[in-house]
Amino acid sequence: MPRVLSGIQPTGDLHLGNLLGAVLNWVQDQQQADSLYCIVDMHALTVPKQPGEIGERTLELAQGLLACGLDPEQCTLFVQSHVPEHTELGWIIQCVTSMGELRRMTQFKDKSEQQEFISAGLFTYPALQAADILLYDTDKVPVGEDQRQHIELTRDVAERFNKRFGETFVIPQASIPRIGARVMDLQNPTNKMSKSSDGGAGTVYLSDDLAAIAKKFSRAVTDSDSEVRFDVAEKPGVSNLLSILSALTQRTPEETAAEYTQYGPLKKDTAEAVVELLRPIQTRMAELKADPNATLALLSVGAEKAGSIASAVVERAKNNIGLLPRR
Ligand code: TYM
Repeated sequence: MPRVLSGIQPTGDLHLGNLLGAVLNWVQDQQQADSLYCIVDMHALTVPKQPGEIGERTLELAQGLLACGLDPEQCTLFVQSHVPEHTELGWIIQCVTSMGELRRMTQFKDKSEQQEFISAGLFTYPALQAADILLYDTDKVPVGEDQRQHIELTRDVAERFNKRFGETFVIPQASIPRIGARVMDLQNPTNKMSKSSDGGAGTVYLSDDLAAIAKKFSRAVTDSDSEVRFDVAEKPGVSNLLSILSALTQRTPEETAAEYTQYGPLKKDTAEAVVELLRPIQTRMAELKADPNATLALLSVGAEKAGSIASAVVERAKNNIGLLPRR
């Protein structure tokens, strides 16, 4: 069975971009692969947080992922800080990653522009992400388009390590969906939908009231002509709606476009498809929130399973480097 690993940060509520770009594919992969999904709380430390905030968000995100359909019988769901091998291998990977490679990461450029305090961790973040992946002999990493560059770096660094120290790491491949890999903000359709975008009018959160979601779509920015056509460069708003609806109805954006002559019905049908996706997820989320201990217990089992794989891989890496083994 192929091994799949992916990760998500506990910073802000899950949104439609996370679902279409990543999480819905995780739910599918768990049936066909040995799948591990990691809530990367150590990554969330790279930008300043209030004391206590990350823990609460981590639990909530775990509940959100379970509500979306991750099944602990079929996959391993765990929290990064519960498996200390992540930071241990993270350091080793930092030492085989160059400053130049890290400087080229577009996500660092974007995120550092938004920060007053730019932590060293924000800069070396992609090395920790590479460790997350390499720790599990991962074959496939299901992510949205914005993570492509980080997975490429992971491959380069793993190859470099293997060349220097002998076969150690499996070289992973990114798995990026054909449709939905880059869901855009409904108000600024040239920016990707994100947890941190201001105000929230352009972001559809899993926790949004269903009536509010319909409103967000009815107010989605389109353009001043009225032709329904899939053309990301010329018609970003309309193309985003077409992508969202197509991802949820298993069609191509071009096929979807052929069915509409006006923006109003396109917005309405897209909103309806999203509301129908989220309705059962919200019901399940409410059930999970009523019993936080059940989720905490699942995460503990997940950390146990993940840790047993990770510790063997770290040992392999340390042995191949030639660190003195402890008696
Ligand atoms: P994060 O937490 O920003 O996002 C989690 C996943 O959601 C996808 N995504 C999107 N997909 C489509 N459209 C969007 N607007 C959109 N926004 C987010 C992301 O591509 C991602 O797949 N660095 C990672 C977390 C990470 C990781 C890993 C991922 C840490 N270690 C190891 C894979 C493997 C991140 O910040 O994702």
